[in-house]
Amino acid sequence: MQNDFFPDSQAGGVHKPEVNHWQERAAWLKAELNRHSHAYYVLDNPTIPDAEYDKMFRELVELEQDHPDLVTSDSPTQRVGGKPLPQFEQVRHALPMLSLNNAFGEEDIVSFDRRVREGLNTTEDITYSTELKFDGLAISLRYENGYLVQAATRGDGTTGENVTANIRTVRAVPLRLNTDTPPAVLDVRGEVLMFKADFARLNERQREAGQKEFANPRNAAAGSLRQLDSRITAQRTLRFFAYGIGVLEGAGMPGSHSALLDWYAAMGLPVCRERAVVKGAKGLLDFFHSIAEKRRGLAYDIDGVVYKVDRLDHQQRLGFVSRAPRFAIAHKFPAEEAMTVVQDIGVQVGRTGAITPVARLAPVFVGGVTVTNATLHNEDEVNRKDIQIGDTVIVRRAGDVIPEVVAYVPELRPDNVRRFVMPATCPVCGSPIVRPEEEAVARCSGGWIKCPAQRKGGLLHFVSRRALDIEGFGEQLIEQLVDKNIITTAADLYKLGLTALAELDRMADKSAQNVLKALEKSKSTTLARFIYGLGIRHVGEATAKELARHFGNLDAFLRASEEQLIEVADIGPVVARSIVSFLSDPLNIELIEQLRAAGIHWPESEPAAAVPKPFAGKTFVLTGTLPNMTRDEAAARIEAAGGKVAGSVSKKTSYVVAGEEAGSKLVKAQELGVMILDEPGLLGLLDRQLPEVELQQEEQQQGER
Ligand code: IVH
Repeated sequence: MQNDFFPDSQAGGVHKPEVNHWQERAAWLKAELNRHSHAYYVLDNPTIPDAEYDKMFRELVELEQDHPDLVTSDSPTQRVGGKPLPQFEQVRHALPMLSLNNAFGEEDIVSFDRRVREGLNTTEDITYSTELKFDGLAISLRYENGYLVQAATRGDGTTGENVTANIRTVRAVPLRLNTDTPPAVLDVRGEVLMFKADFARLNERQREAGQKEFANPRNAAAGSLRQLDSRITAQRTLRFFAYGIGVLEGAGMPGSHSALLDWYAAMGLPVCRERAVVKGAKGLLDFFHSIAEKRRGLAYDIDGVVYKVDRLDHQQRLGFVSRAPRFAIAHKFPAEEAMTVVQDIGVQVGRTGAITPVARLAPVFVGGVTVTNATLHNEDEVNRKDIQIGDTVIVRRAGDVIPEVVAYVPELRPDNVRRFVMPATCPVCGSPIVRPEEEAVARCSGGWIKCPAQRKGGLLHFVSRRALDIEGFGEQLIEQLVDKNIITTAADLYKLGLTALAELDRMADKSAQNVLKALEKSKSTTLARFIYGLGIRHVGEATAKELARHFGNLDAFLRASEEQLIEVADIGPVVARSIVSFLSDPLNIELIEQLRAAGIHWPESEPAAAVPKPFAGKTFVLTGTLPNMTRDEAAARIEAAGGKVAGSVSKKTSYVVAGEEAGSKLVKAQELGVMILDEPGLLGLLDRQLPEVELQQEEQQQGER
C-alpha cells in the first residue's frame, strides 16, 4: 500500500510518527488494519502475521489514548466490546426477515422450478442464483451512509434483538463500507456463524477453563452472539456471510441477486465463494450434488443449499406465500443431528478387547437412517460430556460415520438420571477389565482365547472385504460358529465341512456350498491382506501393505526386530512394539502356521530393495489449493518419499507447501521462518529423488564442471 506520509512504512512496518503527523498516521493505521482484517476474515487470504497486526493495533490504541478525538466509530480499536447490557433492546425490522420453504428430494426441486416458470408465465429455463444454506443465525445489519449503525437478530421475523455491540466485535463485518458512494440506508441480511476450527479451539478453551463445551458450531455462534457482555463475544471468532437485502435508500437496486452479491463483495462485505448462477432444474441439482461432495471440506457447517430466482424483478413478480418467498427454496441435506433419549448405556467388546461404552437410544431418524445405538467412545468421554442414563441427547450421524452422542441437553435432564459405571469384568467372558494408566481405553484382559466377543471380532475382521474377503460370512454365521464352539480361530474356518455348515440355522445346502467355495477362493491372496487379516493392533490396511512391500515374504516379516520395523515407512515405535509383541506370542505364531498349512498362499518376493526416502524425517504442511494436484495427491507423494504430512505448522515443520488462498498456516510459517514451497518447488524436491544411478551421474557431472 502506498503511503504518502510514511513512504518507508510498507505493510506491517511500524514507525513512530512524527508529532505533527499523528493524525495521518492514525488514519493510515486504521486503513491498514482494516485492509488486513478484510484479507483475513473476508477474503480468507491473510496478508501479515498476527504479531505484526497486533503491533500496529497497539500503536493505534496508544495514539487514540493520547488523542481521543481520533477515535472514530469505524476504528478497529472499537471492536473490543463494551460494558455488559442489562438486557437486549428490541428492534423492529423495517422490512420483515422471512424464512425459506424447505425441500428434501429432487422431485421437490423439479416442482419448485415448474411453479416458478408458471408464476412467470414462461417455458424458458430460469436463471437461478445458487448459494449455501449456512447453519448459523440470521442477522440484519443496518448501514447508514456507509457506517454500521445497528445489528439485529431475526427474532420472530418482525422484531429481533439489538446485538450491535456484539456484532461490532466480529471482524468479518465491516464497520464502514468500502465505497465512496455509500447508500443512505442499506440493510444487509446474512448469517452469523462459527467456523469449525474456531469452534474446536473455543471448546478446547472452555474445557481447559472447566466450562461447558458447546454441542456444535451453531450453538457456539448463538451463545456467543447472544452475550449481554460484548467483551465475551469479542473473544470468540464469529464470521458472517451476506446473502440478502432489506431496505435500500439512496442507491439503485442491482438487477439480479448475483449482482447484489457482487456489489456487496466490492464494498468489503463477506460473500461466500461457493455460489453460482445456473439454469433450470438441472443446473440446481448439479449445484446440489457438487456441494454435497465438497461439504466435509468446507470450513463451516451447512445444512443444505439455497436457490433463488436471479432476476430481482422476477423475484418481485413471484412474491411471497405467507412468510416464505415463492422465488427461493432451501434444498436441505438430511439432518445430521437429532434429539433422543438415552435409555441405557452398555458396553461393546471389540476385537482387541477394547471396551466401548454405547448409548442405547430411543429410535431416532438421523443422517437418513434410524439409529438405536451410538458410540460414547470411552469412559473419559462419557464423563467429560457428562452423559447419563435418562438424558435427552443430541445424536450425530454424519455421512457413513458411526453415530455418536454429541452432548446432553441440560434443560431436559430429569432428576432420576443415572451415571454410567465401567464394569469391572467383561460382560461377555467375565475376565477383568483393565485400563493402563496412560491409556484412554479399557480392555477385556481375556484375549481371544477366553473372550468370545474378541474371537468373533477377530474372525469378522479376518473374513472382511479388505482382509481375506471371504464372502458369505456375516455376523450371524460367525456368531453361531463361535457360540456353538465349532470354531475358535481363523484356521478353524478352513476345517469347516459341508455337514457342519448345513446344520446351522438359516443355512441351506446351497449356501453352505457357496461358503466353502468362498473359503477355497480366499486361500489365494496377497501378503498384505494376510498381514492385515491377522488383526494386529495399530496395523491397518495401509501399514499392512507397507509391511508386505518392505519384507516381501512372510518369513522375513516374522523375523523382523523392532529396529527393522521402524525402518518401514510410516511405522513408529508404538506400531513396531505392537507387531513384535503380537509375533512373540506362540499362539499367534501357531495360528499363522496353521493358516499356511491350510493352504493360504500368496506370491512371495525378495524384500524390497531399500527405496531411497529423501523426505525421511521431514514434516510437511499443506495449505491452500495447488494448481495441478489435489492435497491428497500431494500428501501421497510426500509420504511415498518418506515424509510426514502434518495438519498444523510448528517449529518442527520442515516445509509448508502453499497454494492459492493459503490461510493462516502460511502466515504462521512466515512467522516461524519455516521454508515455504509452491507446487513447482515441491515437484522439484520430489524430482530430485531420481534413482540412485542418475543421482550419482548428476553429482559426477557437477563434479566435472
Ligand atoms: S435467504 C427471503 N439465504 O435460513 C429469504 N437464508 O429458513 C430469506 N439461511 O433465517 C433467507 N443460508 O438464517 C437465505 N443463503 C441463504 C441462507 C439462509 C442460511 C437461513 C437464514 C434464514 C433461514 C430461512
